[in-house]
This record gives sequence, structure tokens and C-alpha cells, in this order.
Amino acid sequence: MEQEKVIQIRDLKVYYKQYRKNIFGKKRRHQVLKGVSIDVFEGEILGLAGESGCGKSTLAKAIVGMNKDIEGEINLKYSDTQMVFQDPYSSLNPSKKIGWLLEEPLRVDKERKWTPKERKEKVLEIMKAIGLPKEMLERYPSQLSGGQRQRVSIGVALMRSPKVIIADEPVSALDVTIQAQILQLLQQLNRDLGITILFISHDLRVIYQICNHVAIMKHGEIKEYGIPYEVYRNPQNDYTKELLTAAGIK
Ligand SMILES: Nc1ncnc2c1ncn2[C@@H]1O[C@H](COP(=O)(O)OP(=O)(O)OP(=O)(O)O)[C@@H](O)[C@H]1O
Ligand SMILES: [Mg+2]
Repeated sequence: MEQEKVIQIRDLKVYYKQYRKNIFGKKRRHQVLKGVSIDVFEGEILGLAGESGCGKSTLAKAIVGMNKDIEGEINLKYSDTQMVFQDPYSSLNPSKKIGWLLEEPLRVDKERKWTPKERKEKVLEIMKAIGLPKEMLERYPSQLSGGQRQRVSIGVALMRSPKVIIADEPVSALDVTIQAQILQLLQQLNRDLGITILFISHDLRVIYQICNHVAIMKHGEIKEYGIPYEVYRNPQNDYTKELLTAAGIK
């Protein structure tokens, strides 16, 4: 049986305006993604790796509609795809309590109206799912640890029961033991709730641990794609080999 695709990307090109003007005084368009084609299958965790600046976040933002200057095709099976960012501190409003932050996606939900009681119930359900005690609802982001903050930002993403989450380096800012806990949480959401995850990471070992497929990107192009075990054992692309060597894997 062919697996359903939740995201299908064909020949995607993304451009940014360059800040410097050229000699004619015009701002040039700078191409960051150079024709990316990739599928994300229902229920999987797809790992996306590649050096800093290659275009991983650009791809993520294009999928959720945050990049406007694009060509090519992005087909989404579900309209509600949520992002989780690397640094939960900058993505959580520091002047609001955790309870307020979790409720916010429901308050602004255009698809349905949530009563205060329904919002509270959903918040408690999500607190359980992300493994935080409900006492923390009264705290501000600055009163949580980095790992707890990242749980909250995952919680915010979960509030409207998305089918797909894009996690852009969700553990890079955390120390190793906390990283492991957040990775476990993501795996649990994938396994228990069937949430499909696009997992962006520099860390090829982590990708090996949790991902069903891996895509290797360089300079805005996908250089290699496959099952981690097979790609790592027998990389076809020189750049993949380089990354594996740099990570001490090959
Ligand atoms: N808003 C923007 N305007 C102009 N250029 C941008 C913008 N955002 C990113 N870029 C450029 O696009 C390229 C790709 O950036 P992107 O953030 O996608 O890289 P990345 O692979 O996510 O890197 P990292 O691993 O460091 O997060 C970089 O050269 C970056 O400088
Ligand atoms: Mg990035």
C-alpha cells in the first residue's frame, strides 16, 4: 500500500530580497531554495539535515506560508501545520503566563468558538501530554527551565490538534539530558497521536534515532534522501559522506 503524503513539494524555489542594492540601485532577488522536491508521509518523522545557511528553515517557513516569494508546488493534505522553533524563549511572549499562552491558539481559532471551560479542559489535556504539572500554568516563561519552555512551545503547537508539526531544531538550545527528554516527547506524540513530524536538525545521530527518512540539504538543494540506516551505511553523495565523517559516524 502506498503511504499517503501529508506534504508534497515539487521544484520549490524560494527567493529573498537582498539587502544590498546592485550598481543600478536595484535590490536583487537572492535564490535560497533551488528546486526542492520532497514528500513527507503520513505518520512518519522526516529528518532534514545540512549545514548552517543551506535553507532548512527557509523550507520550513515556505511550508507554513511564511515565505511569499516562491515558485513551484507545495501541496498540503492538512491546512493546520504548526511550527516549533529552536529558541522557545523568543517564541513565547514573556509577559504572559503559561496558561494564557496555551489558551491563545483557541481564543483566536477561526474555525470554532471555544468556551472558557472548554479552553481550560484542553489546556489541562495538553499539559498532561507535554508532561508538565498544572501548577506551572500560573508561571511566566522566565520562571521555567529551557526544557520546560520547549515543552510549553510544543504544547502551544498542539492546542489545535494539528496532524503535522514542523520542529525547527527544537533541541539545539538545550543540554544533552534535556534534549533526550524532548526527543522522547516528540516520538511519543508521533506514536500515540499519529502526528507527522518534519524534524530539522544538525545532529545526524539524533536523526538516526528518531527518523523514518532523512533528507540531506546543501546550498538549497536536496542532495540525498532515504532511510537513515541505508543512507548512513552506504551514502551516495560526497556531501553526505562529509557530514557523516564530521559527525564521527563514518
Ligand atoms: N528573511 C531573510 N531575508 C534574507 N535572507 C534570508 C532571510 N532568511 C534567511 N536568509 C538567508 O537564506 C539562507 C538560508 O537560511 P536558512 O535560515 O533557511 O538556513 P538554515 O539551513 O535554516 O540554517 P541554520 O542551520 O543556521 O538554521 C541564508 O543564506 C540566510 O542568510
Ligand atoms: Mg535554521
